Amino acid sequence: MWGGRFAEGPAAVMREINASIPFDKRLWKQDIAGSKAHVAMLAVQGIVSGEDAQAITEGLSRVADEYARDGVPVNMALEDIHMVTESRLAELIGGAAGRLHTARSRNDQVATDFRLWVRDAMDEVLAGLKGLARALVTRAEEHADSVMPGFTHLQSAQPVTLGHHLMAYYEMLKRDVSRFADARARLNQCPLGAAALAGTGFPIDRHMTASTLGFAAPTDNSLDSVSDRDFALDYLMAATQCALHLSRLAEEFIIWASQPFGFVKLPDAYSTGSSIMPQKRNPDAAELVRGHAGRIMGCMTALCVTMKGLPLAYSKDMQDDKPPVFEAHDLLGLCLAAMTGMVDTVTFRTDRMRSLAESGFATATDLADWLVREADIPFREAHHITGRAVKLAEERAVPLSELPLADLQMIDARIDERVYSVLTVDASVASRVSHGGTAPAQVRLRIAQAKAELAEG
Ligand code: ARG
Repeated sequence: MWGGRFAEGPAAVMREINASIPFDKRLWKQDIAGSKAHVAMLAVQGIVSGEDAQAITEGLSRVADEYARDGVPVNMALEDIHMVTESRLAELIGGAAGRLHTARSRNDQVATDFRLWVRDAMDEVLAGLKGLARALVTRAEEHADSVMPGFTHLQSAQPVTLGHHLMAYYEMLKRDVSRFADARARLNQCPLGAAALAGTGFPIDRHMTASTLGFAAPTDNSLDSVSDRDFALDYLMAATQCALHLSRLAEEFIIWASQPFGFVKLPDAYSTGSSIMPQKRNPDAAELVRGHAGRIMGCMTALCVTMKGLPLAYSKDMQDDKPPVFEAHDLLGLCLAAMTGMVDTVTFRTDRMRSLAESGFATATDLADWLVREADIPFREAHHITGRAVKLAEERAVPLSELPLADLQMIDARIDERVYSVLTVDASVASRVSHGGTAPAQVRLRIAQAKAELAEG
């Protein structure tokens, strides 16, 4: 393909280090689509004859059929998917195949193929994210009233509802959807026709190829077109943040499934046993989501470091852009599917959640707020009075709601029997009616909006 200038062939190790076909064969559909769009444009512009263009297009369809049937042959001598395809095309149709590469370079070709691939990957992730978001909303609706302890510092803080807790993850996923959608819009410009780096003297129509391939427009600078991998970095950064969210949810499931918490029973289908300890049910799927998140972040770092020192325009380092994106995408797909399966089928032990919410003095803030509201006591003083009540309840080993009124009045005479109406966990959550609060009514409102957001697409 470039042998004209060379007296000797490549060393065996050169062949090996140079070849990307073992991984970039994953671009074959995009490569065929890009070539078909290119040759159709060349024909319309009179750069190749209609006859040659037809032979090339039909030949490309045959190559695609072969790939679909037998896989892409990993021919290391041919380097990459572009050369493997072109060489097979030449075997099938002969000399006309050599006209396909007119007004094109592998530099703009690979930039185009990879953008097409990443665009599809983004669409897959968007679908997966929406599936998980739907699962969360469904479970949240079932548990809009289920009380659990809310935590700060992993210490029992104030009661919340399980529905509210699950909807917190909905909000994270909603931001992930927006990040991927935003990245997709930014990606959607076509580099084809930038050629090697400087553009071309042939009278090509870049708008035509861009629109054939579903891009909004051609890219605007030929140097940037062949050396930009922001779209891949955007994918990896969005994937990193999404994986981070999935990892936090996975971490909660792992903690919740532990015996001291006992908040959930993870489904058999997402757990494993131990070969030595017969009682074990290990949350392996959740642990692997947490683990895979680390690998996805590593992929993001890998491509940042590959790109950060490259001068314009194309350098062969950029061939290393694909493995981290492929790896991250495969891992993210697994994580989304596993989390969706777990959210769909996990058993929430709401009785256990409620009893822990009741035993952690989680309504102490409600007592302090009552003192402010009903006895006009400044909050700082109310905080102190409540602290004494908690200390007493702790000594007696009873919840705040079971302290006798006489004892509460010994601490502060302004307390009366109406205080008991705010000391239960149900009263506590029901009172949190501020926008975005945990009151079941607020949670239901947000669930209804979330359903509408998901239905919109
Ligand atoms: N396999 C190469 C890659 O993935 C294609 C571009 C090669 N271009 C070049 N000038 N060597 O980056």
